[in-house]
Amino acid sequence: MHVFAKCENFTAAADLRAAGLYPYFQRIEASHDTEVMIDGHRKVMIGSNNYMGLTHDPRILEAAKAALDKYGSGNTGSRFLNGNLDIHDQLEDELAAFVGKEAGLVFSTGYQTNLGTIGALVGRGDTVYLDKFDHACIQDGARLGFGDVQRFRHEDQDQLEHLLSSTREDRGKLIVVDGVYSMEGDIADLPAFTALAKKYDAGLIVDDAHSLGVLGPTGAGTAEHFGLTDEVDIITGTFSKSLASIGGFIGANAEIVDYLRNNARALIFSASIPPASVATVLKALEIIRTEPERRERLWTNTHKMMDGLRSIGFDIGPTGTPIVPIKIGPMNKTFQIWKVLFEEGVFTNPVVPPAVPEGSSCLRTSYMATHTDDQLDFVLETLERVGKQFGVV
Ligand SMILES: Cc1ncc(COP(=O)(O)O)c(C=O)c1O
Repeated sequence: MHVFAKCENFTAAADLRAAGLYPYFQRIEASHDTEVMIDGHRKVMIGSNNYMGLTHDPRILEAAKAALDKYGSGNTGSRFLNGNLDIHDQLEDELAAFVGKEAGLVFSTGYQTNLGTIGALVGRGDTVYLDKFDHACIQDGARLGFGDVQRFRHEDQDQLEHLLSSTREDRGKLIVVDGVYSMEGDIADLPAFTALAKKYDAGLIVDDAHSLGVLGPTGAGTAEHFGLTDEVDIITGTFSKSLASIGGFIGANAEIVDYLRNNARALIFSASIPPASVATVLKALEIIRTEPERRERLWTNTHKMMDGLRSIGFDIGPTGTPIVPIKIGPMNKTFQIWKVLFEEGVFTNPVVPPAVPEGSSCLRTSYMATHTDDQLDFVLETLERVGKQFGVV
């Protein structure tokens, strides 16, 4: 069969477009943090990972502009060669201190962070253990390594223990979990994972993409939330959510960081994040550290929405964070509800197979520190009306 036959045979997107139900690649014409303009219409954004609501903070925009003036628009190379700025190094030091680790390493995206880190660490004599709900870039990073890949059911520590105990003792072992799962919004049971890592002498990576700024007394993430920072070997994170930019990083001990600095292909063979992005993250970090009231506001908004949605009768699953999925079930019905909400001014994200199991489609909603009560009340009223219309509540 010709290599392009799969493209000719791919009709899923065209079928949805023909039915007027294709929800992806929406063209945003203007963005004001909690609201966006699409096709001339205002939508309340409840589909963003901008948890701290910092993407339009004037202090951040100022810092980004100053960095543009000082360093230019891009670095035109990898950090390994010509693309390493003093502010990249400064950011690594500040991030490491923030998450409570000895050293930091900044990559160009969160996706590349996991590709580079896991791909470089898992060699031929090693086995990596993944939660089935781990983010795609963790799964892809494991595929890039040369070791064995084993998967356990979501949050099933018994199955993980079975896999660990049946692995030959002399193999290197690495467990990788999300701190907060990006679709369900549930928090990984780190006390159980750190205990298993210790018992079986395995390394442990926690991906804190959705936890930074959100969890822990200072917003340092899932390990801080559980008081287990020293028990987690590597904390990975991204700048594309609470930190209002693009890029990613790890925090770990100096030996691990130095090994990855010199061996992670996704770092060495890819250009570094541009100056304006680095400056954005530095300023966002400063704001997160010095304005805990933002995190409090985020949690107030999150609890308002969790309570509101549950009392209307929606099934929102086991979420414990600002990611609040609304369970619908059938894929088509999910697209239909998404569309009515969208037309009524509410921007949500439909999540369908293969991102979730067959029959478990949902609308992923997520909240920001900067959503106003008026916006959230509007969202709740609209969701209730549309939920009733479709017999979901
Ligand atoms: C858990 C998790 N890890 C990593 C990433 C990748 O981050 P980025 O989009 O910054 O590349 C994401 C993005 O959605 C994520 O949810």
